[in-house]
This record gives sequence, C-alpha cells and structure tokens, in this order.
Amino acid sequence: MTPELNWPQGNVSAEDFLQNYWQKRPLLIRDALPGFVSPVSGDELAGLACEGEIESRIVIGQGKKWQLKQGPFSEDEFASLPPSHWTLLVQAVDHWVPEARDLLNQFRFIPDWRLDDIMISYATDGGGVGPHYDNYDVFLLQGTGQRRWQTGQLCDGSTPLLNNQQLRLLNEFSSENDWVLNSGDMLYLPPRIAHLGEAIGDNCITISVGFRAPSYGEITSEFSEFYSHLLPESKRYSDPNPQIQSSSAEIAPTAIANIQEILRETAEQPELIAQWLGQHMTLPKYQEHLEETAQESDRLLTAGSRLAWHQINEKEILFFVNGESRKLPSKAKQAVQLLCDTRALTDELGEALGDEIIFWLVDMQAFLPDE
Ligand code: SIN
Ligand code: CO
Repeated sequence: MTPELNWPQGNVSAEDFLQNYWQKRPLLIRDALPGFVSPVSGDELAGLACEGEIESRIVIGQGKKWQLKQGPFSEDEFASLPPSHWTLLVQAVDHWVPEARDLLNQFRFIPDWRLDDIMISYATDGGGVGPHYDNYDVFLLQGTGQRRWQTGQLCDGSTPLLNNQQLRLLNEFSSENDWVLNSGDMLYLPPRIAHLGEAIGDNCITISVGFRAPSYGEITSEFSEFYSHLLPESKRYSDPNPQIQSSSAEIAPTAIANIQEILRETAEQPELIAQWLGQHMTLPKYQEHLEETAQESDRLLTAGSRLAWHQINEKEILFFVNGESRKLPSKAKQAVQLLCDTRALTDELGEALGDEIIFWLVDMQAFLPDE
C-alpha cells in the first residue's frame, strides 16, 4: 500500500496548492508521504536500464563538464562508471513497476490527461543532471538517500545555455532556495524554474512525477492535421464581398478577415476540439511497447494505456482510449469513470460497457486477453 499524500502541508491544503503554487511557485513538502518506501532499488533501476524497450540515460559530470550516455546499458558499462558524480535516469518506470504505477494515484487531484510519466533516477555522491529548467510541472519525491535541491531564476527560450546541446544546461544559475530532501520529502517545481539537484552520499533515488502540457505549436499543428482529414477539398476560401482593388498585388485586409473567420469557425466547434484533445492526450508514450506493459492479470489495463472521457452534451460522452475515441450514451459514464479510476475490468463493468466497447478496448491494446 502506498501511503496517502500528506495534505494539508502546514497551512497548504490540496485546494490551496492548486490555487497558489501549481504553475506559480515551488513548494517544499516535508514528509509528503509518511513511511514512504521507494518503489525500486538502485539495482532494480539498473536492471530496467539494461532493457532495450526502456528509455534510460546516464549523466556523468560536475561544474561545466558533462557527458550524456543513452541506454540501454550493459553490466560492463555500469562496472566502468566512476566512483561518484554520475546519475542514471529511467523513464516511464510506472509502465514497468506496479508499485511506481500505484504512486500515480496520489496525484489524481490533477487531471489524468495532464500526467506524463514517472521518471526515477539513481545517483552516486555528487551526482545530478546539472542546472537546467524543464518546460513542465514536476513533483520530485525523494525515494532513498538525500538530495540537495536548489531552485533559482525563471527561464525561457532566451536564457543562455552551456554549449552542450543534448543536456540543455544553464550557463548561469542563481540559487534562491536551498533544501536537503530526505526519503518521503517532496519538492514541487512549476515549469521553467531553474533547478539543480545534487546527491548527498550514494544511493540517492529521486522519483519525478512529470506532467504534459502541449505547446501552442503542437496544439495548432496537431489539431490542424486531425481536422484536415475531416474536410472535403471542395470547402475553400471564398470571396463573400469582392471589391475592385487599387493595386492587384495587394493582399487586402478583407482577405485576412476572411481567413480569420475560417479559423474562428473552426475554433467554435467544442466537440471537435474535445475529440482531438482527448485523442491526442491519450496517445500512449510508447505505443510500440504497449503490449509489453501487460499486468499480472488480463483484467488489469496495460500499464502504458491512457484513458479519459468528456461529456459532450446531456445525452452523450466521448470515451478516449490510447489515442482513439468512441461516442457513448451518458448512461455509460459511471462505468467509464470506474474503469478510468480502477483500471480494472470486473464482470459488472464488462456488462455495463457491453461487448462492442470491450472488443474495442482489446483492439486498442488497453486489455490483452489470455491466449
Ligand atoms: C533527477 O535528477 O532525478 C531529476 C532530474 C531533473 O531535475 O529533472
Ligand atoms: Co529537471
């Protein structure tokens, strides 16, 4: 059993957190999960990093000298690492370790579709990934050992970086907060806050619960791609109010207004936007490995599966599974919600959803039936 996230924290309740800290300022939460036990050991993490389908990396360095190695790794590579100042980072551990997956339940006060994955790092003394910023929110939970976290300035695309393209390390870091975290302590960081984490002693395991926030570029390009497939070639720009122009070469403001009108009309279709958003945000992180994230029971969702739902109107909902959607009557909402919450299929749930939806879930590799 994973211990419950210990809200309130001093004067900070979960509501207060969302109002005053989420996406705004860092928050250190001492003893966030009392009695917390790390879902993996360093050895287990190293084992995962030897698997071909699991994304992992090792960062070695300090000061201004850094080196990045991409996994998978061999035992020999681990044996040849220096005695200190390196860290191993493994992505999406929640897909492979049920105890890590259970941890996600503590973060469901934020909508599921915003959640990305759990990355876990193991560091030797002094190890870390250097001063940097991320474009997403993250909860940094200390698993074992100790880590010193410093947080600093708010960064953006123009913040100067060190000349190391792969690691995106900051040229300058001005420390504003300095904390030492012990097992069960947690630090929340909003997007773009500079931070620097350094292991104090060996066996420093840090669990990062990261969130997704699509960029404006991703929203416009991916939505357009989705929408373009629904539009016939015959639907085109038209001239509702043609005028003689003084210069034929001019692109007149009316042409711009006509295009704006097309884009406005597009944006005024909430159902279409919901369909795209749900499908896009439930795309599995590693589509090609979905099958391999099967659980011990064929009645449990594959761990890499992503589910969501949206109420379209009084009568209908959209149910999203791994990048696709189905329209269902509102009476299916309770069953859909229960499946999203428990990620397990009971006989009652199967009956409430009906064969067609169950077959679809199997088709989407959300469930893998026994051979
Ligand atoms: C870590 O070293 O575990 C976290 C890396 C980060 O700051 O994003
Ligand atoms: Co970071």
